[in-house]
Amino acid sequence: MLHYEFIVAQNPEEAGKLAADIFQEILLAKPRCVLGLATGSTPLPLYRELIAREKAGQLSFAQARSVNLDEYKGLGPDHPQSYRRFMQENLFDHISIDPVNTYVPDGLTRNSQAMCAEYEKKIETLGGVDIQLLGIGHDGHIGFNEPCDFFPAATHEVELEEITRQANQRFFDSIAEVPTAAYTMGIGTVMSARQILLMATGADKADILSRALLGPVTPQVPASILQFHPHVTVIADQAAASLIRR
Ligand code: GLP
Repeated sequence: MLHYEFIVAQNPEEAGKLAADIFQEILLAKPRCVLGLATGSTPLPLYRELIAREKAGQLSFAQARSVNLDEYKGLGPDHPQSYRRFMQENLFDHISIDPVNTYVPDGLTRNSQAMCAEYEKKIETLGGVDIQLLGIGHDGHIGFNEPCDFFPAATHEVELEEITRQANQRFFDSIAEVPTAAYTMGIGTVMSARQILLMATGADKADILSRALLGPVTPQVPASILQFHPHVTVIADQAAASLIRR
């Protein structure tokens, strides 16, 4: 049984608007909020809507801070497929957030362990995440937390599953160019956010969404841990919600 809020939108655009309503509420109530952000195709309608609402004067990012979930290992801010670049192009360059207040794990670090530890520390220093936005991978990954035998607690380096590399190949020229490793917030990091907003759109997410929300809580389906978070909102379009019957 679902004990969290489950919202079904007609289509991805409406899902973006409904998600923007939640972000707007937080930005208005707490202008210096800490937004946990995600990459991928799913949040794009949300980001477009947030940009439009700021331009329309409905909300402001001027005081907000942001922390991103993950980054490819080996890709720098100028690489067209790095998540830092994705965030710049799809959100940060179009809103009033101060660039120094936007944090993405450093894909070019020479000391992975230290960078990951500092990222955790940074989130703590900011006062924790007010709302963490999540998409979901076809294997149930959140951020880049892939299925495994345990729930990784903190920000760490991870080997990417083949299914994930293949899904993300569409952004690269060839599969060989898709990085084999990444840095990601841990499941513990994600779970410590005060609120979580999981978005899923498209028929290809229907099966994994129902397994994550209705199946057993297991590290083999990392998103299933969200069943244990006290404040989760799920926004799915009709296609992704098609296997959820309540
Ligand atoms: C990537 C990202 C995830 C994202 C997932 C789904 O692997 N690391 O954060 O949620 O893909 O992406 P999409 O929204 O494009 O389906």
